[in-house]
Amino acid sequence: MCMKISVIGAGYVGLVAACCLVNSGHEVTCIECDDQKRKKIQEGIVPFYEDGLERLLVKGLESGRLSFAAGLSKSTSAPVVMVAVGTPSGPDGMVDLSQIYDVMTAVAEQQLKLRVLIMKSTVPPGLGAQLQRLFLSGKGSGAAYISNPEFLREGQAVMDWYNPDRIVLGGDNCEAVELAKDLYKDIKAPVCVMDITSAEMVKYASNAFLATKISFINEIANLCDLMEADITSVAMAVGLDKRIGSHYLQAGLGYGGSCFPKDTRGLNFISSYNGYTFNLLKSVIEVNFQQRILAIRKLSLHLGSLVDKRVGMLGLSFKPGTDDTRESPSLDIIRMLINEGARVSAYDPKFGVGREKLLPPGCKLHSDAMSAVSGCHAVVVATDWQEFAEMDWKAARERMLYPYVLLDGRNCLDPGKLRESGIRYIGMGKR
Ligand code: UGA
Repeated sequence: MCMKISVIGAGYVGLVAACCLVNSGHEVTCIECDDQKRKKIQEGIVPFYEDGLERLLVKGLESGRLSFAAGLSKSTSAPVVMVAVGTPSGPDGMVDLSQIYDVMTAVAEQQLKLRVLIMKSTVPPGLGAQLQRLFLSGKGSGAAYISNPEFLREGQAVMDWYNPDRIVLGGDNCEAVELAKDLYKDIKAPVCVMDITSAEMVKYASNAFLATKISFINEIANLCDLMEADITSVAMAVGLDKRIGSHYLQAGLGYGGSCFPKDTRGLNFISSYNGYTFNLLKSVIEVNFQQRILAIRKLSLHLGSLVDKRVGMLGLSFKPGTDDTRESPSLDIIRMLINEGARVSAYDPKFGVGREKLLPPGCKLHSDAMSAVSGCHAVVVATDWQEFAEMDWKAARERMLYPYVLLDGRNCLDPGKLRESGIRYIGMGKR
C-alpha cells in the first residue's frame, strides 16, 4: 500500500529515509529549510558522501513520488509525518531539543490533518510521551505518536535501512503501530513493539553498549601493549564466543562521529539528571578520550620532543566510507600535535579541497597520501581506509625522515610488511 509521508529534515537520516521509502513505493515530501541544501538535493546531488544514496535520490526524483519543500504547511503535510531533525548535544551532554520543539510547534499550530507522527530523531527517554501529551492529544490534532529509532550506520545507511537487525516501534495506539509496521512491509526483520519511553531507551542503550565494547577492547589493547600480547589475536578469539560476538571489538584510537560521542554524553547527562550516576558509561567516555592522548604518548616515546617534528596524518573522517569528520579522533590528535609544536600534513580520500577550514589551524592538507607523508618523521594512520593498507610503504619510507615511525591507529596495516620496508611500526596493542 502506497502511503503519503512527510519526512522532516534532509540530513543523513532524513534523506536516507525519504529516498528508501520512495524506493519502497511510498510518496514522500521531504521538508528541508536550508535553501541551498534543498536546491542541491532537488538537482539529484547528495550534499554528503553516502554509498548508493545518490542513485536512489535520482531514481526517486524521476519516479515523481519524491518532492521537496521548505516548510511544513497544510499543502506539504501528509497524514504520516516522520521527524528526522538533529538533536546535537553540548560538551556536558545536554541534548539540544530546539529543532524538535520547532517541528512540534509547527505541527500543533498548523492544525495539520495528521494521523501519526513518527519520531526518528534520537530524543531523551521520556520526551516522546511528553510531546504526545503537550502537542498532539487534547487540543492538538489527536494524532498518535510513535517512537521509531534508527540504527543506520553512516556509509552503510541504505544497506542498513533494508537489512536492519530489528525495527523498534514505541507507541500506545495500536492502529498507529500497525500503520508504522506497514511502512516497513518490504523489510524482513523482527518488529519490537513497546511503550514510547522504552523505545527511546533502546536507541541510547544500543549506542552506549557498542561504545562500551569499543572502550573495553581499547583497554585490553592497552594492557596488551604493557604485557606483550597481541590484541588482534585476543579480540578474534574473544569475539568467537557467541555470547560476546565479534563486532565492535576493533581496538584503536576510539570512536568518533555524530552519534556515539553525542549519545554516550547524552545518556550520561540524562542519568545524572534523573539522579543516577552511570559510572560505567563515564569510564567509557573517559577511555575514549584517553586513546587520543595515548597516540601522542606513543609518538613522543619514539620521537622525543615533538617540537618541529613533521607528522603525516592519514585519515580525517571518523571512519572509512564517509566524509564526515565530526568528533573524528584525527582532528583531536592534530590539535594536540600542533599544540606540542609539531608540524602536521594531512590527507583523506574523501576530504576534498575547500574544506580546509574544518582542519585545526596550522595543519596542511594534501591531495594524496604519498605527498602527505613525504618529509615526515612520523605518520599516523587514523582512519582504516583500504587505500592506506594498499599503499606502497617502501616508497613512502624513502620519502620519510628518520626515525621513520608509523602509528597504525586502527591496526589496519600489515606490521610485517611495514617493518620489511624499514618503517618503525607501532600499533594499538600489537605485539
Ligand atoms: C552508529 C551506530 O552504529 C548506528 O547503529 C546508529 O544508528 C548511529 O550510530 C546513530 O546513532 O545514528 P555510526 O556513527 O555511523 O553509527 O558509526 P559506526 O560504524 O558504528 O562507528 C562509530 C565509531 O566507532 C567509528 O569512529 C569507528 O571507527 C569506531 N569503531 C567501530 C571502533 O573504534 N571499533 C570498532 O570495532 C567499531
